[in-house]
Amino acid sequence: MAGPVDSYAVMGNPIAHSKSPVIHTLFADQTGQNLRYTANRVETGGFQKAVEDFFKNGDLGLSITVPFKEEAWQLAEKRTSRAEKAGAVNTLWQDEQGQLHGDNTDGLGLVADLKENNGVPIKGARILILGAGGAVRGVLEPILAEQPAELVIANRTLSKAETLVELFPGMPISSSSFETIEGRFDLIINGTAASLQGALPPVPEPIVDQNTCCYDMMYGSEETVFNRWCREQGAAKTIDGLGMLVEQAAEQFAIWRGVRPETGKVLDLLRRDIT
Ligand code: ATR
Repeated sequence: MAGPVDSYAVMGNPIAHSKSPVIHTLFADQTGQNLRYTANRVETGGFQKAVEDFFKNGDLGLSITVPFKEEAWQLAEKRTSRAEKAGAVNTLWQDEQGQLHGDNTDGLGLVADLKENNGVPIKGARILILGAGGAVRGVLEPILAEQPAELVIANRTLSKAETLVELFPGMPISSSSFETIEGRFDLIINGTAASLQGALPPVPEPIVDQNTCCYDMMYGSEETVFNRWCREQGAAKTIDGLGMLVEQAAEQFAIWRGVRPETGKVLDLLRRDIT
């Protein structure tokens, strides 16, 4: 039996600083949807039970964050093709038959933030992605669906970049080590975890010029180390991942509620909040 109020949550660990409750509550207010959205910290090893209990209780949808996106992928009985390729699920919901569905909205969020919020074209662009972990794998299919001219994945551990490239046979995607990155790029996306350590991925200096747009999937109260470096190299534009966070949430909201909220004001509010 569903409870009196439609109920949603984000599950992860840690979860205390999650912005998802604020974002989804703002979306609900804006679209006149009556729902509750909470943040649930789940212990390692307790994820499957937490998900089962959540839906048994009649609650309707989950956002999944670190470190449970791969486990959510395993649990989902039906997955969208982009989630299939991502190997990770950040959105769960049940259909009328009680089947658990999984999607991954991270890539859609990145694409929407680039195109809609920042006017950065992807079609025909030469794109370099730094990193080959879960965060990068999660966004590849939606980026390729926008038909870039070329997508190069560069990673410290080359074999991991090669493995990602193999997921997309026949597509304009290739792998590189950091040292051997060559040519110029319209768009460089940092998807490494280096920013978390305040470090810069060791990329050769000449890859950024005055026509390059740089995007860090991370964000913070201060400019990220990567974006600062790109700006100092003369990049045309630098963007952090806050917009991606809001846009991927909007895609989740659309899946659950059938209406895609306006993101601009929510992003402005969050931006004011973190700085
Ligand atoms: P996530 O889910 O955030 O992607 P992950 O799967 O652990 O986390 O992947 C982290 C990514 O950041 C990897 O591409 C990693 O490079 P390796 O595959 O060589 O480990 C990259 N990374 C982490 N710290 C880095 C650093 N200091 N410099 C460059 N790359 C780094």
